[in-house]
Amino acid sequence: MNIVQSGLVLCSAIVSFAAVGFAGEGSEILNLPADKGVVAFPHWKHQVLVSDDCSKCHIQDPGKIKELDMDWAHKVCRGCHINEKIGDKKGPVVCFGCHKRP
Ligand code: HEC
Ligand code: HEC
Ligand code: HEC
Repeated sequence: MNIVQSGLVLCSAIVSFAAVGFAGEGSEILNLPADKGVVAFPHWKHQVLVSDDCSKCHIQDPGKIKELDMDWAHKVCRGCHINEKIGDKKGPVVCFGCHKRP
């Protein structure tokens, strides 16, 4: 391998490493505010539920989600709760399953 090739291999290794995330990153619980009542979102628990496939929610690198609003949450969060079973578990679908009564 010449110097240029090994440089390229090193660069791509760094890029792909940066895109990988692991359970326990970010906040353990995220309190997402909403008029209907705050949603106490168990973030780490979900990282384990999706087997570290952060892209279920983070389309780009894990971090802030600029699309995060009611439409996104009801599509991505509630959508999975309606459609997907993980093991024998399903997430809450009714309003106050996510929103704490204000
Ligand atoms: C079920 C959805 C979901 C999954 C899966 C998920 N996250 Fe998040 N994550 C969120 C939400 C929602 C936020 C808040 C985004 C915001 O405030 O803009 C967030 C925020 C973050 C933040 C920003 C810091 C913070 O906590 O406020 C980091 C870092 C992060 N996530 C890392 C990860 C990593 C690493 C994984 C995979 C191992 C992952 N997340 C999996 C939903 C998820
Ligand atoms: C890939 C599927 C999936 C996505 C995406 C997802 N969830 Fe869940 N969620 C689950 C499953 C499965 C459970 C049930 C876990 C259990 O019973 O232990 C759950 C449980 C919950 C619970 C109940 C609390 C608890 O500890 O069990 C809340 C609240 C919740 N999810 C909120 C959210 C929010 C908010 C988002 C979006 C930011 C989200 N979920 C995205 C699958 C998902
Ligand atoms: C799977 C969890 C989940 C369920 C179930 C759910 N929501 Fe939400 N909802 C959220 C999250 C998370 C947000 C906040 C997104 C954000 O941070 O902007 C939200 C935001 C909202 C808002 C936004 C208001 C504002 O402050 O802009 C309203 C209203 C709302 N939800 C009503 C409802 C109603 C009505 C139901 C029942 C039919 C429901 N939600 C069920 C997770 C859920």
